[in-house]
Amino acid sequence: MCGIVGYTGSAPACGILVEGLARLEYRGYDSAGIAIQQGGATEVVCRRGRVAELAGSLAPMELGGTCGIGHTRWATHGRPSEANAHPHTSCDGRICIVHNGIIENFAELRERLIAEGHAFASDTDSEVVAHLVEARLAQTPVAADDAGLRLVQAVADAVCELVGSYALAVMSDDAPGAIVATRKDSPLIAGLAPDGAYVASDAIAMLDATRDVQVLADGQIALLMPERITCYEAAGDGLAEVEAAAVHIDWDMDVAEKTGYPDFMLKEIHEQPRVIRDTLAGRLVGNSISIDELTLSAQELNLVDRVCIIACGTSYHAGLIAKNLIEGWARIPCEVEVASEFRYRNPIMTPTTLVVAVSQSGETADTLAAIRDARVKDARVFGITNVVGSPVARESDGVVYTKANKEIAVASTKSFLGQVVSLTLLALLLAQAKGELTSAHIRQLYSELADTAELVERILADTSAIDEAAQACKDAASALFIGRGMGAACAHEGALKLKEISYLHAESYPAGEMKHGPIALIEEGFPVIAIATASPTYDKVLSNLQESRARGALVVAIATEGDEEIRSHADHVIYIPPVRDALSPILASVPLQLFARAIALARGCDVDQPRNLAKSVTVE
Ligand code: F6R
Repeated sequence: MCGIVGYTGSAPACGILVEGLARLEYRGYDSAGIAIQQGGATEVVCRRGRVAELAGSLAPMELGGTCGIGHTRWATHGRPSEANAHPHTSCDGRICIVHNGIIENFAELRERLIAEGHAFASDTDSEVVAHLVEARLAQTPVAADDAGLRLVQAVADAVCELVGSYALAVMSDDAPGAIVATRKDSPLIAGLAPDGAYVASDAIAMLDATRDVQVLADGQIALLMPERITCYEAAGDGLAEVEAAAVHIDWDMDVAEKTGYPDFMLKEIHEQPRVIRDTLAGRLVGNSISIDELTLSAQELNLVDRVCIIACGTSYHAGLIAKNLIEGWARIPCEVEVASEFRYRNPIMTPTTLVVAVSQSGETADTLAAIRDARVKDARVFGITNVVGSPVARESDGVVYTKANKEIAVASTKSFLGQVVSLTLLALLLAQAKGELTSAHIRQLYSELADTAELVERILADTSAIDEAAQACKDAASALFIGRGMGAACAHEGALKLKEISYLHAESYPAGEMKHGPIALIEEGFPVIAIATASPTYDKVLSNLQESRARGALVVAIATEGDEEIRSHADHVIYIPPVRDALSPILASVPLQLFARAIALARGCDVDQPRNLAKSVTVE
């Protein structure tokens, strides 16, 4: 949550910062601001709203400075406003900071700093950092030859007092051309390019300049100067130089562009066939599934007697799908739990429990905390994430990447499919290790899994039925998504997608639960979206549809091509190609994504940046 960018070099910083913020806007978009060093002082410009508002205000200012920091905010402490927008400054205006995360002890620090004479200008937790650095800098001995190092020391001292999570970039008028950056539990990446040094909360903000980046670890402090980046860590009373982890980013630059699509969400939905193919590439060796990154031998895998999937939001729904596969194919008990519950429940773990942490961003605070808890309790943790070098990747015993490439739209689509495919491979691997499926069966399932890429292409080729159904539902106040088995998991994801981008209230239920309460919602014209694909429970779902229609529901059914019977039970039918039930979520999810997007657009919503949301949830 929140995006940070900083640049010091030979080029004017303003354009670089604004461009970087636009790329980071998926992380939060309540307000935006930049600070640029100009002729011995620092110019700060903040605006409420999107980065475009800020860019509009900056255009006539012609800021020429070559060192600056910027921020795009997702409000935690203090409502979205110009006063609460970052960068924040110290009392004398000579220290400027941008912060991502939450300073949990800000209230006591603020009280103390006010008592010491500091004046605060915002309601944020972040502002304390500017005042703390100011106070520490005043106490740090002057080393006339290295003002940058002095700022590093002051920041190192200041962050010792912070409780919570932070990624910080700090500038001081006393250290022209220097940016000091540090982090704890919130990502921060630095990169040196021919035109200068960059720092950002995501490499996407600097990809035009460099693809070789340094991923700062918790506690590392980077000093960025126009021609160098030096990394430090606290050592005894002082600082020792260290190397940050070097990572080469190989995404195609197209990830940051809409490439002709009207929005990122549609572009990313259309990338899904590629994601399926890339996620599967190299995973079948002979007749065996190979996931070496799991770092468990066949013998250790055979000992796994329980799988525990932890995740949030859409990633949790991918876990619900996987539960059916792991239990169905590998016959291993599997639980799926939202990470925010798992972490506070003191769950029972053993060395033969395999914990699977699923996170697109790899930085979701609750999922990370759950990983740490599971590892302390001796479980093996396997991460499934989309972001190379992310905290989930670093803190798990093994990690698999979903190969979705950068996902920009806030609502997950392609990364969800990447997760489902990765989890399907994991289920096959476990079934193989347990001897529950023959090699021939595994090869057959893998081949059908690979075929889904082409079947998704077919769905994407004609979306007319989806658009018609969306038109019919767009003015509803509420909607119900139902399904059974695999269909129930898809229903949960379909409802989440709809509510998050269209603000149309939606609920999801296993269809069998209808009579236990939700059916009371149904009245004339109430949309019921049913996953009614070919499955062992197809007939049961039909009964639920009859019950819904008898009460006036407007039924939209996702059904299997060739099923004519469904037409007499639904007002709108959206067909997907035939596929075995176990793989049906990969196909059924795609029309649900497009349905949500069509309704959101019909209701005039911004599908890429829905209100109140941010792509990475790095705070609890
Ligand atoms: C919904 C969505 C969120 C995320 C959730 C977890 O479209 O994107 O529900 O799935 O915030 O995020 P990750 O997967 O990054 O841990």
